Parts: sequence; C-alpha cells; structure tokens
Amino acid sequence: MEDEVRPVTALFADIVGSTALGERLLPEEVKALVGECMTRLSGAVEEFGGTVQAYQGDGICALFGVPAAHADDPERAARAALRILEIAGSYSEDIRAAWGIDRFNVRVGINSGPAGVGTVGMAAPQAVALGDMTNVAARLEAVAEPGTVLVGDGTARLLERRFVLEERGPLAVKGRARPVRAWRLLHARPTDQSGTTTPTVGRDGELERLRNALAELARGRGQIVLLSGEDGLGKSRLVAELTRDAGEVTRLEGHCPSYGGDALYRPFVEILREWLGVAEGDAEIAVRTKARARLGTLLGAQLDALMPSFARLLGIKTESDVPVDVEVAYAEWILALARRRPVLLVVEDLQWADAATRELAERLLALTEREALMLVFSFAAATPSEATRLRLAVLGEYSHRASELTLAPLADEAADAVARTFLPGVDAATTAALVSRAAGNPFYLEELLRAVVEGSVVDRRRTWTLTVGSAELMPPALESLLLARIDRLPEGARRLVQVAAVVGRSFPVRVLETAVDTDDLDGDLTTLLRAEVVREVRRYPELECAFPHALLQQAALSTLTAGRRRELYGRVAAAFEEVYDASPDDHLERLAHYYAQAEDRVKTIEYLERAARRHDALGAPEQAARLREHARG
Ligand SMILES: Nc1ncnc2c1ncn2[C@@H]1O[C@H](COP(=O)(O)OP(=O)(O)O)[C@@H](O)[C@H]1O
Ligand SMILES: [Mg+2]
Repeated sequence: MEDEVRPVTALFADIVGSTALGERLLPEEVKALVGECMTRLSGAVEEFGGTVQAYQGDGICALFGVPAAHADDPERAARAALRILEIAGSYSEDIRAAWGIDRFNVRVGINSGPAGVGTVGMAAPQAVALGDMTNVAARLEAVAEPGTVLVGDGTARLLERRFVLEERGPLAVKGRARPVRAWRLLHARPTDQSGTTTPTVGRDGELERLRNALAELARGRGQIVLLSGEDGLGKSRLVAELTRDAGEVTRLEGHCPSYGGDALYRPFVEILREWLGVAEGDAEIAVRTKARARLGTLLGAQLDALMPSFARLLGIKTESDVPVDVEVAYAEWILALARRRPVLLVVEDLQWADAATRELAERLLALTEREALMLVFSFAAATPSEATRLRLAVLGEYSHRASELTLAPLADEAADAVARTFLPGVDAATTAALVSRAAGNPFYLEELLRAVVEGSVVDRRRTWTLTVGSAELMPPALESLLLARIDRLPEGARRLVQVAAVVGRSFPVRVLETAVDTDDLDGDLTTLLRAEVVREVRRYPELECAFPHALLQQAALSTLTAGRRRELYGRVAAAFEEVYDASPDDHLERLAHYYAQAEDRVKTIEYLERAARRHDALGAPEQAARLREHARG
C-alpha cells in the first residue's frame, strides 16, 4: 500500500471503572468480563464499517475511512459511538446487579481530519493513520464524562444535520496553542433536516412522469418506477415530491443504509416497523402485542401461519414451529394492504441492498399484476449491485408496467436557480463559478455554497482557509463523497485514475499507456468508464477521456502524498515528451506545468522559455512576457 493522505474519522473508546472490578473479582474474571465488553465494542465499530486499529489497556482506537473512504464516515463513527454507549450501559446494569459496582462505564471521543495513511512494521506490517486529528480524538475521549461522547468542532459541523449536539466549553489539547471546541453527541435526529423548503427546479419532465404513474395507480393499475442517478442528483427529492402528491394511498418507505451491517431485509423491516408503530428500543412484548393486533386486523385467520415470519423480520421470538417464509408473509401483507387502498412503496438507495433484500423486492414485482401497488426503487447505477440486477428483472419481465427515470445533471439555469434560492446573498460571479464547478449536481452545489457561508474550506494543502470562488474549493463532506467513489474502484483502476488526474481534467489515453506500467490498461479504463468516473471525449484522431467534473479529478489527486505527486508529475511529463515527440510545440506550457509540479526547476524554465519564444514567433509578445515573468518567479 502506497502512503496516502486521506480524510479519516478516529474514534477512541475507553472503559472506565474496570479497576473497581479488581477489588471484587479474580484477575481472570476481570479479564473475561472486560475482554468480552471490548469485543462487543469492536463489534459495534465493525457493524458501521470501521476498523479497530489498536487495543490499548481497556480501550480501543478505531478508524473510519481507512482503507477506503465512505461518503458518510463521520456519521458512521457517530452511530457506532451511540451503539457503544448502549452496549456499555447494559454491561454496567449487569455489573451493578451482580456485584453492586456502579462505576463501570465507557467514554468516547470522535474527531475527523486529514491523516497520513500507510503501513508500518517489517514482519507483520500494519496499516496506520497518523495525524493531529487522532491526538485530538484521544484527548476528547480522555476528558469526556463517563457515558458520553465528545466530538471535535469540524466533525460536529458535518454531523449537525443528522444528529443533535450540545456545545461544551473549549478544551486545552497537548501540543496545541489554542484550545479546541468540543461538542457532546446526544442522539440521531429522527429525520434528515436538510432543506426541502426550497422549490424543486429543472425536473418538470421527471415529475410529470411520476405523476402519470400515480394517476395510473389511482385507476388501480400496478406500477414500477426505476429512479436512478448519481449521488446528490435529487432522487430523494423527487421521492419526497411524489409521496407528497400521492393523495389517498398507503405510503411505505424504506432505505438501504450504506453500512449494511448484518441485518437482512433492512428497508423492508423499516417499512414494517414504521407501519406497526414500533420504535427503536421497544420491549419485545410491546412489539409482539402491536404486531399481533395490527396484523391480525388486516390478515385475520391468515395471521397464525404468517406470524413466525413476521417475528423473524422484527427480531422477536416465537414458540410456534410453523415454517418461516419471510418473502411469502411480506407479499401477503402488501397484498392485503393494497386490497384496502392503493399502496405506494418506495425503497431508496438499493445500490446498498443485500441479496435477500433484492430477492424480496423481486418477489413483490409480481404483485403489481394483481393489485393497486406502485413500487419505486431508487439507486445509483454506476457500479454493478443488487440494484442493477433488480433493474434487469424489471425491464425483462415487467416492462409493460415499468417507467425508468435516469436523472441527468441539472441544466445551468436550473442550477443557478437552486443557488439563488439556497443562498440569495452570493454575488453573480461567485454563483456562476460554483454552478460550473458543481456540474449540475445540486448536492455538490449546496455543499459548495455552504462552504462559502461557513467561510472554511479545505484547500489542497489542507489548511482551513476561505477561498471563495477559488478553483480549489473542496468542502469536506464533498471530498468524502467523491473519494468514496474512487475508493470503490478495484486497485488497478484506482491507480490509473490517479495518473489520469495528474495528466489533467481531460487526458489522451496514449499518455497513460506510456506513463503507467500495467498489463491491463484497457480493462482498467473500461472499469473507469463503466463507473462513470471518466468519460470518453473523442476517439479520433486519438482516444481522449475526461473527468465529468473538476471536483472528481481533484478528489483523485487529493490522497497523493507530496512525494508521490512529484514522482507522478515527473512520469507524466516524460510520457508526454515521448508521445508528442513529433509536435512538442503544441504542448510547451503544459509540459512546463508538469515539470513545475514535479519540482524540476531546470526543465520548467526550459519549457517556459521555449513557449515564450514560440509566442514571440507567433506575434504575441504579451504572452511571451508573461511566460518569462513566470520563469523568473
Ligand atoms: N431539482 C432540485 N431543485 C432543488 N434542489 C434540489 C433538486 N434536486 C435535489 N436538490 C437538493 O439537492 C440535495 C441532494 O438531493 P437528494 O435528493 O438528496 O439526492 P440523491 O437522493 O439523489 O442523493 C438535497 O438537498 C436536495 O434538496
Ligand atoms: Mg438519496
């Protein structure tokens, strides 16, 4: 593994009060108890896709975003932390009941930021992430009250839309001149608070098709809608518009979380629980009572045979030995609902679904032939997933009931309108610059605007500065999202995309062939094209590809260490010289740029000088003077 610089979220959790156990228990008993607790804390980390980096005494250090970034690493860490409090809470109750010791608890610190990531050690090399952000995370953990989670300031800002946080006083941190601000993480917000108050623009065609499907549903005709589009293009927004307009229907909505965990049928369980009115943490007896009552009213005598399957889905025990068939039971339930009145069932983000979820979704397709059921599946389609399999099943057998909506980037005028309603105060030039940088993706645009408001942006050198309108504007939430797309690529393609990003936003493939030594450039390039990380621009006179937007190119560059960056620019410069040996004059400034990035002063000046002479010859003295100026500076 190459050394890299990447955004990482660190979580430190430490058990407190384990020494008090030592007074009452044998050492091996303490070890068994604390050990088991730590294993379960690690389990919580892994459930949300983190990795435990180290065990220290009776604490753990975990990382989110290593080896691969997820769009929502801070959120994953926050959810893991809340789970950790839950686990420690039940341990502490047991320990109090058994030995009367009541100080057993856990405290947690979370912080995000750039870290140097790589391997250390010879015999058994281990991945590490090092950076100031981990020190702060450890410090936050150390000062957190037992039973609480403290979060760093930047991380809190990334979490505030989905979690409730409470400010704590500034804390002194070793090695830091200024105290850091800290926040206590309380709990998740019930629903995402991100703005749905602004009007939806530029999607008239899509909304009309969705409304047509609803009109068909009202006539009792089953419908299937496939809604696909890259993250942030507005799938959830359209779903919200659709459910709002749906009228007299039963609305059911489930989501596939990106951290799949090990619970099968996640979105379908969410739908069932919501319909039953079962809340997180309800006691088993309450769940069973509600399920029996509500499902019994709907299903009547059928319930006895189906109850064990519903129990399995709800995670409660049953005594009955009736065989369980979750898919049959779920389908019967939906059918019974649809017989009462039309049902609109939405499953979002199916690209994260497990196979069982997809199979159940597939089973529901047939119901659209029988009752007034409208199924809406949203997903990002760039990489093969259970969602793309489901899509094939829909198009293969149910095309007579299916509509497929593939969201394209917003047109410039629409994006402009989003910017103006989201943030009226920004001047026209900045808005235009941000609109072009967001390339029609409203989520990118909102993040860029938010970054301008907050006045704090991570630039390429990763210092917190305000660079309004700068070409390097890259808010942290956006960086994680884009990096996650790149990290999902297989290793070969991921390396290739880094070199491509060094060549430029658009790049001749011949240069890559020369700069990269790989046996499967074609295969890797095809992977990139399929994942829509790059696009084909032209095939003649030679194959040229490009990143769909500069943000993605920048994200691909962002993990390179300074040393690796110099090396790659040097390689690309040499490859360019070789490929365009016959016509170097067309590329002099580009070569000067590469050599400047490679920190090869001599070559940089040589190419700037040649470029200046060329401008002289072409009768453009100002250009020439500018280049000579550049060469001196
Ligand atoms: N057509 C639109 N007009 C205005 N805002 C939009 C539009 N589409 C999306 N948005 C906003 O952009 C952000 C991302 O949209 P979202 O629906 O969450 O995308 P997705 O579900 O495809 O990832 C949200 O804040 C959403 O409100
Ligand atoms: Mg969404």
